[in-house]
Amino acid sequence: MPGTCVVGLQWGDEAKGKIVDLLTEAHDAVVRYQGGANAGHTVVTGGQTYKLSLIPSGILRPGVQCVITGGVVLNPPSILAEIDGLLARGIKVGRNLIISDRAHVIFPWHLEEDRLIESQTSGGEAIGTTQRGIGPCYGDKVRRNCAIRLGDMYRGGFCDTVERIAKEKNLLLAAMTGQKFVPLDGAEIHARYAKFAERLKPHVADTTTYLLDALEAGKRVLFEGAQGALLDIDHGTFPYVTSSNSSGVGISSGSGVPGKYLKKIIGVVKAYGTRVGGGPFPTEQDNALGQHLRDRGNEYGTVTRRPRRCGWFDAVAARYAARLSGVDTLAVMLLDVLDESPEIKICTAYEIDGQRETIFPSQVDSLRRAKPVYETLPGWRQDTSTVRHMAELPAAARRYLQRLSELLGSPVEIVSVGPDREQTMFAADLTSAAMSV
Ligand code: IMP
Repeated sequence: MPGTCVVGLQWGDEAKGKIVDLLTEAHDAVVRYQGGANAGHTVVTGGQTYKLSLIPSGILRPGVQCVITGGVVLNPPSILAEIDGLLARGIKVGRNLIISDRAHVIFPWHLEEDRLIESQTSGGEAIGTTQRGIGPCYGDKVRRNCAIRLGDMYRGGFCDTVERIAKEKNLLLAAMTGQKFVPLDGAEIHARYAKFAERLKPHVADTTTYLLDALEAGKRVLFEGAQGALLDIDHGTFPYVTSSNSSGVGISSGSGVPGKYLKKIIGVVKAYGTRVGGGPFPTEQDNALGQHLRDRGNEYGTVTRRPRRCGWFDAVAARYAARLSGVDTLAVMLLDVLDESPEIKICTAYEIDGQRETIFPSQVDSLRRAKPVYETLPGWRQDTSTVRHMAELPAAARRYLQRLSELLGSPVEIVSVGPDREQTMFAADLTSAAMSV
């Protein structure tokens, strides 16, 4: 009954999609359990490039069941566009994609609220959201009386609920904009969303029961985290976070699968650090070095194309994220991006108000005042993109990986040195098939 989980340990964009894609062939089902169309990944397979946002990349492999659970927030036009894009390229998208009837639905008012809240942030830094309506939709879920779940779209009363909520949201938007807005037309929104619901109907299921049955029957299930642990709503750098539990603790709540089935947690890190949007990032290099990392790592958002902030590896933050997520093993991605660096720094502690700290602070103000304390390691100044075995990596690169492993408290068992599948190394006895048991 093995469940394998892939979780990002930084601020998202750790190239988890590549690891998920590699592990998919050894699994029967791939599960997306939190977040929404704020995430995105690019998968290159058979010479074709696919950009996916909500649908697990397992959809590209015949025989793999893709599951979107109730912890996800779903924007119907955007998932339908993803489905249509895949169908147009000859990829089968039928019952091999099931979506929870418990998933909350993003409506036009969520998009509008997200845009307005971000543009009106005064006296503070904007969160820098992806403007996909994620926060407002999760907010309504917690508020309960103005939320609509996918299953509700097939019940009597759907039309009345949409019209009631649209009226309430018009009052809210009027107050937020000083009346300068185009009022939402509940009847029109209902008509449009009823059509989306009809198209999504063949995919709707009770995914919690599906997953529990599958795991009890010994099926191999891969859980794919979106964003990264430091963006977790409860445990991340609040308020500069996303609105779901994006660390390992969110796997059970998002999917309905209890911890006893989660057998292997793979923590994914980049060999350096990146962050998109607002919020403190102690090791940020807002300079030529940061630009060098951005250029070599192509650090521009998959969803929004925003340039990512780049910096050195923050082992204080990543160790916290690894412990929180219950990580068993590490995958270090984009190692080749550091190939030209004469020396490489790792942040091993913070100095906060003159005190040395190795514990990640719970308050964002403290993190903002944190000055990184670096350990400097020699670079390897060699092309690693063609290396295929860990033992053949330059000695300085192996030393760097060893240090990351010591600092994070887990072995590095996967190393990636480029976007292609072949540019991935597994520790001695680990093959992608072995990862699933
Ligand atoms: P939201 O998830 O759109 O509400 O955005 C909240 C914060 O999370 C912002 O700083 C975003 O840049 C960040 N964020 C959301 N999704 C991703 C992602 O997939 N990768 C990296 N950052 C993300």
